[in-house]
Amino acid sequence: MRQQELSAKITICGYDELSEEEKMLVDTAREILRNAYAPYSHFRVGAAVRLADGRIVTGTNQENASYPIGLCAERVALFSAGTSAPEQAVTAIALAAETADGTQVVAPLTPCGACRQVLCETEARYGNRLRVLMCGRDEIYIAESARDLLPLSFSL
Ligand code: THU
Repeated sequence: MRQQELSAKITICGYDELSEEEKMLVDTAREILRNAYAPYSHFRVGAAVRLADGRIVTGTNQENASYPIGLCAERVALFSAGTSAPEQAVTAIALAAETADGTQVVAPLTPCGACRQVLCETEARYGNRLRVLMCGRDEIYIAESARDLLPLSFSL
């Protein structure tokens, strides 16, 4: 029997410490969340995906009266990117969220397990690291690779 430690490192920074390109991605995620369809949770999430050619593709959470069939903002954005530009690697994703009162979440928005699995497969698909920028009101968590968010992810 043996034990193995699985560790991951994130960077924690403020908005002002981001590069101009990163600021633009974060701004886009924070703006697009207004388009969320979240009549049940009233929790609006925005995702902005950066492609290798510089383009940005967005997504928001899309809920449904049949609760489990709704989709998270991350997967809406990633599947949209995979549809409109399948040849372009995804290099980064920024995530932001607001609660029912229209204020930004204080704690950085960290993706659910299912979205982490999709982020990992997107990274593997294009063979490059996918940076994940998780925005809170005052702090932003940055993972250099989607894999850092899901050790031992499933793959075939
Ligand atoms: N949600 C996302 O869109 N992304 C996340 O990372 C976490 C949760 C959505 C799903 C649902 O519409 C709402 O937020 C509340 O869970």
